[in-house]
Amino acid sequence: MSPDDTLVLTSVAEAADTPLGRYRAVRERTEALAAPLSPEDQAAQSMPDASPTKWHRGHTTWFFETFLLTPYVSGYKPYDPAFGYVFNSYYEALGPRQPRPQRGLLTRPSCVEVGAYRRHVDAAMARLLSGALSPEILERLDLGLAHEEQHQELLLMDIQHLFAQSPLYPAYRERPDPPRPPAPALGFVGFEGGLATIGAEERAFAFDNERPRHRVFLEPFRLADRLTTNGEWLGFMEDGGYERPEFWLSDGWAAVQEQGWRAPLYWRQDEDGAWSVFGLAGGRPLDPAAPVTHVSYYEAAAFATWAGARLPTEAEWEVAARSDRGLRQMSGEAWQWTASAYAAYPGFRPGAGALGEYNGKFMVNQMVLRGGAAGTPPGHARASYRNFFHPAQRWMFSGLRLARDGA
Ligand code: AVJ
Ligand code: FE
Repeated sequence: MSPDDTLVLTSVAEAADTPLGRYRAVRERTEALAAPLSPEDQAAQSMPDASPTKWHRGHTTWFFETFLLTPYVSGYKPYDPAFGYVFNSYYEALGPRQPRPQRGLLTRPSCVEVGAYRRHVDAAMARLLSGALSPEILERLDLGLAHEEQHQELLLMDIQHLFAQSPLYPAYRERPDPPRPPAPALGFVGFEGGLATIGAEERAFAFDNERPRHRVFLEPFRLADRLTTNGEWLGFMEDGGYERPEFWLSDGWAAVQEQGWRAPLYWRQDEDGAWSVFGLAGGRPLDPAAPVTHVSYYEAAAFATWAGARLPTEAEWEVAARSDRGLRQMSGEAWQWTASAYAAYPGFRPGAGALGEYNGKFMVNQMVLRGGAAGTPPGHARASYRNFFHPAQRWMFSGLRLARDGA
């Protein structure tokens, strides 16, 4: 059988929205994202928050092995018992693990071996998914696929951060984003507020942190009809945004001092003052019409204060997203910082066992981002989706949308 025959057979058997077809599509997308990267690229770790590409490929595989194959396939033996230590990210219930800041020291397993691990688990998963599937297996499959999609975005964030450290400024992809037409004048869309319901409906997959669906009360508010642009951010900088403590939260001002922030991460100024931005397509002239990205919560909050506005709460954002009121760029461009602390919804209970650690234990000291970015896998996010990061982190594709009080 030639490779072409395999392709045809695969697409006939799996073109439909079958569990195995969905599994294969997500797994192949990860490998496609890693394909342009050499083994050297895939092994390095540029900072404690980031992970090597090779580790993302192994960890997502370990997730299926640990949470589906081991419990549901009788007689399944882990591919390599040592991989539990190597690829466990943060699950205390599953034992000790390679310290996160030292994932870049893992020269073994090699990229080739990680590829073999992926194929081994894929073959076992294909057998599992070809049989009868209980609701519990299907639920864990959905979680494993959404998990791998989260790591696809992390892979891009992390490779951009790694490449930004290189004096060669390598491009991950060749084709740059085309320059945009000037951004339309900023408008605000008014909402009456009152009692609203947010959170994920029960019928489709959602992460546990999107539930329970519950009511919230909102005062009247207005939401910007598009994202804040690079050009607007330049205005903030030119008005002394990074030099004037009156705009900043105390912890944010401390971060400005300690980390020497003068502009968003990846912005660079050449000798004659022109700004360029390092992205996945390498260094490019700053596009003033593009949404600003790679800003921390502290920077987003300072910008909003400077602009005489504020950040929306996550409930305001979700009500607006569900409203169909002509808001542009709600998803697919940049994650949008909200003024909401990442906390449990009323009635939230993390599940039992290791999977209960997935989201719940991180519900302190982080802020919620809503929407979805260009690097977010298509179809991954939704109106109820809650992303979350620490307020000083800025290697994510994070931007902002302004809000104001009163309809
Ligand atoms: C939701 C992006 C903050 O990076 O830890 C990956 C996603 N959860 N594996 C993270 C996640 C488990 C999570 N974020
Ligand atoms: Fe993970």
